[in-house]
Amino acid sequence: WSSLLVPSVLEIAKENTVPPRYLRSEQDKTETLDDSCLSSKLPVIDMQRLCSVSAMDTELEKLDLACHDWGFFQLVNHGIDSSFLEKLETEAQDLFNLPMEEKKKLWQRSGEFEGFGQVNIVSEDQKLDWGDMFILTTQPIPSRKPHLFSKLPPSFRETVETYSSQVKSLAKTLFAKMACVLEVKREEMEDLFGDVWQSIKINYYPPCPQPDQVIGLTPHSDAAGLTILLQVNQVEGLQIKKDNKWVVVKPLPNALVVNVGEILEIITNGRYKSIEHRVMVNSEKERLSVAMFHSPGKETVIGPAKSLVDKHQQERLFKSMSTQEFFDAFFAQKLNGKSHLDLMT
Ligand code: SIN
Ligand code: FE2
Repeated sequence: WSSLLVPSVLEIAKENTVPPRYLRSEQDKTETLDDSCLSSKLPVIDMQRLCSVSAMDTELEKLDLACHDWGFFQLVNHGIDSSFLEKLETEAQDLFNLPMEEKKKLWQRSGEFEGFGQVNIVSEDQKLDWGDMFILTTQPIPSRKPHLFSKLPPSFRETVETYSSQVKSLAKTLFAKMACVLEVKREEMEDLFGDVWQSIKINYYPPCPQPDQVIGLTPHSDAAGLTILLQVNQVEGLQIKKDNKWVVVKPLPNALVVNVGEILEIITNGRYKSIEHRVMVNSEKERLSVAMFHSPGKETVIGPAKSLVDKHQQERLFKSMSTQEFFDAFFAQKLNGKSHLDLMT
C-alpha cells in the first residue's frame, strides 16, 4: 500500500478559506446527534478500584460491560501524573507549531505512515479531513524509526518515551483484567500482547471558518487492539456512534478515553465491540488529541482466542491472519466506518 501525500491543514487554515477537497456533501454529515443525554452515561472505569482487592469484582464487571455495550469508556485514577500530562499537551502543541522547515524533516516518506502527514489516502479525488497527524511507532523499542526519533525536539522525545512506557503498562493491566473476566487464559493474552506493538498518533484540528461543512476525522473504527486517548485541554470534538446516534465524548478532567479496536473485537470473538467514531471541529478553538494504539506484534497471528471459543463452544466469527497483514489491508482502504472488519469474516 502507499498513502498519497497531502498538504498541511494547519497551513491551509491560515488562508481562512476552505478548499473544495475538504467540503463534505450533506449526506456525509447527516445523522442525528444524540439528544437523550447518552453522553452522560458513557462508562467511567476507576483503575485504582480495578486493581484493589476489595473493589475489583464490581469494577471488573463494569469494565466487561463497558467493552461489550459501548466499546468506549473513560479511565480515571490511572496513575499518570496530571502535571506530566500537561507537559505532554504543551509539547504536542509545540510540535505542530514548529516552523515548516523543521516539520519537513519529520514528514512522512512516501509509502510510510510515520511522521507528519495523513493515512488512508488512496485516491486523488478522495475528500480530505480537516486535521493533521503525526505518527510514530513507540514499542517495541527496536522498531522506533531512528530518522524520526533522533530529530524530535529532545524534551518532547523524552516525554514521549516516558508516556509510552506508562501507557503501555496501563494497556497491559487492562488486557490482563479483560482476560480474567473473559476467561481467556492468561498465557494466551500474554502471547498476544506481551510484545505489544504501540504507536502514538497526535491529531491536530485547526479552527475552521466553515466547521459545519468539514469533518475533522472521518467515521472509522480503530484497527488496533486497544486505544488510549488524551483529549488535550479538554476540548470537545470526539463523537461515537451509539444506537445509531452520534454521542459526544465529554472530556473529564484528568481522564483518558479508552476504546476497543477491531483486533480486540476479533480476539474476543465479537464480545467486545469496536465502535465507529469521528471528530468534528469548531470555528474558534484548535483541538488536539494524543492516541496510543496497542496491538499484538506484527508477526503475531490474530483470531478469536482459542481458550475463549473452546470454553464456551462458540463458532468462530472471524478468520485468522497476522497483525501486519491486517494493518496492510486497513491502510490500503480509505476510512469507512467499520468496513475493514469484513476482511476478517
Ligand atoms: C482518533 O480517532 O484517532 C482520534 C480521536 C480524537 O481526535 O479525539
Ligand atoms: Fe480512532
